[in-house]
Amino acid sequence: MAKIIGGIGTSHIPTIMHVFDEKTNVGPYWEPFNEGIKPLRKWMKDNKPDVCIIVYNDHGSNFSLKNVIPFGIGIADEYLPADEGYGRRPVPTFKGDATLSAHIAEHFNEKEFDVAFSFELDVDHGFSVPASIMFGEDCQEWPCKFIPLYVGVVQYPQPKGNRCYNLGKAIREAIDSFPEDITVAIVGTGGLSHQLQGPRAGLINQDYDRKWLDGLVNDPESIKDISLTELIRETGSEGAEAIMWLVMRGAMDKEVNEVHRFMHTPVSNTNYSLTILENKK
Ligand code: DHB
Ligand code: FE
Repeated sequence: MAKIIGGIGTSHIPTIMHVFDEKTNVGPYWEPFNEGIKPLRKWMKDNKPDVCIIVYNDHGSNFSLKNVIPFGIGIADEYLPADEGYGRRPVPTFKGDATLSAHIAEHFNEKEFDVAFSFELDVDHGFSVPASIMFGEDCQEWPCKFIPLYVGVVQYPQPKGNRCYNLGKAIREAIDSFPEDITVAIVGTGGLSHQLQGPRAGLINQDYDRKWLDGLVNDPESIKDISLTELIRETGSEGAEAIMWLVMRGAMDKEVNEVHRFMHTPVSNTNYSLTILENKK
């Protein structure tokens, strides 16, 4: 049977892809970040998941504000990096696992979650930045298959945290009932605190992010019902992306070990945050 072997939370800041692709992630600004993500790359090498489910938000690359979709899943054999205005990223094509995607999609139906199905999907920085952080900026071939799971975070009213958490539980049930002997990691992306526009642009709130992350790791039930209003007030308008980490957390056991945490501010406009979770054995 399939098995979930880890949950990762990471910011998906687009500046990271620019410096990776231009090989300019050097010097004092980038050194702490380069060091802080090393344990994630080691975890990936040590654990070698067959499939990574990446929970991210589409930043207008497939869906404009004419069509706002709360949840969607990619069901395809491959996904191309999206052209976000600079041409497609020079990274390998992401291979999909359409069979596992279809199984998860069927399970969403069973659980009465209405999730859009994308049989063709270009994946933007929300997806490809975490992949490069996990597997290296020089990765010539991705060492695993991927499943994109997108969440409509950019337009009010976003799905509530509790719904994201429960969607994660449905993903877990689907993985646990998938008959192939494969290992799966799930990655929640985005956040933590940042605001990109308006009078509060540049807002970062590390204290709040730390407490929220402690809650996510140790007692997710205590933070899953935090309102979008509170999250946006405390962590900025784009801090709302943190709800995608709740999808990841819902797919893990109630009790987890946090094997690595790293927070560094600022990376671009964001409190870059990383956590690696394993189920307690
Ligand atoms: C930044 C962060 C994001 O998550 C994003 O989607 C766009 C920009 C930033 O910090 O610049
Ligand atoms: Fe984002």
